[in-house]
Amino acid sequence: MSANTMNEKIGSQRRVYVWEFPVRLTHWVNVAAITALSVTGFMIGGPHVHSVHTEDFAMGMLRFIHLLAGYVFVASLLVRLYWAFAGNDFASWRHLFPFGRPKACSVSENLKYYLFMGGQPPFAVGHTALGGVFYCVICVVYIVMFTTGFALHQQSIYPAFAKFMGGWMWCSLPLQTVKLVHHVSMYAIIGAVVMHIYIAMYLDRAEKNSLIGSIFDGYKILTGRERC
Ligand code: HEM
Ligand code: HEM
Repeated sequence: MSANTMNEKIGSQRRVYVWEFPVRLTHWVNVAAITALSVTGFMIGGPHVHSVHTEDFAMGMLRFIHLLAGYVFVASLLVRLYWAFAGNDFASWRHLFPFGRPKACSVSENLKYYLFMGGQPPFAVGHTALGGVFYCVICVVYIVMFTTGFALHQQSIYPAFAKFMGGWMWCSLPLQTVKLVHHVSMYAIIGAVVMHIYIAMYLDRAEKNSLIGSIFDGYKILTGRERC
């Protein structure tokens, strides 16, 4: 793509190419994988499946879809991890951490605004400071999710990969604890996602910078009010 199409000036506004293809691709693959994992995981945790014949293989199919989505999820995380070092400045791992950023981009300023306690919209070009906190926390929950998930997977299959990814925890944790942590983390992710979508919609309206559009086409509209 040429530099012209990456940054275009339209009147007083500027279109800037912020989210590169791998960032958008991994975002939507993760959304699809997490949705499939949550639906199938919920049904595995509390089965209400009515099958007429054992050949229906209903629970086995749910488990298969869960594992398939689990592998897709981990592969997508690995691609995003690589892109945190190979991608543009907005994709960089430095932008995913809120530390050492100016006051205008501080987490408390962002929080005040989201809680209707005054302040201004963040007008950030890349991730906001609070967005950075969200992504740090979600990374930790992702790690808990796939390590406990692979530990459970290693119970029925013993490949070295599953052992490496989480099977090692059996020497210190009982099955019920691992299942409980895996299950409860799902609610942590669902809670974080609800907040994330609410904030994305709220900021999109307040900043009028095509924030939601940007996670589809990569472009944000800069209006000259950007503070960080
Ligand atoms: C966002 C990601 C994920 C969510 C929301 C999720 C959700 C769940 C839930 C709710 C359960 C039921 C736990 C219970 O017994 O109460 C479960 C079971 C399980 N999950 Fe996940 N999971 C995720 C990722 C993964 C990953 C990455 C793997 C690894 C491949 C995995 C493998 C498993 C296995 C093997 C079980 C046990 C199935 C059984 O008992 O037959 N999960 N998951
Ligand atoms: C399972 C659901 C979702 C999860 C786990 C999730 C997670 C994330 C993560 C981790 C990022 C950072 C992207 C990166 O740097 O790689 C992000 C960015 C973004 N997401 Fe989502 N997302 C979800 C759903 C959605 C939905 C449905 C929307 C649209 C309404 C959305 C809008 C955005 C936007 C606009 C950004 C970029 C701006 C920002 O920095 O916040 N997300 N999301």
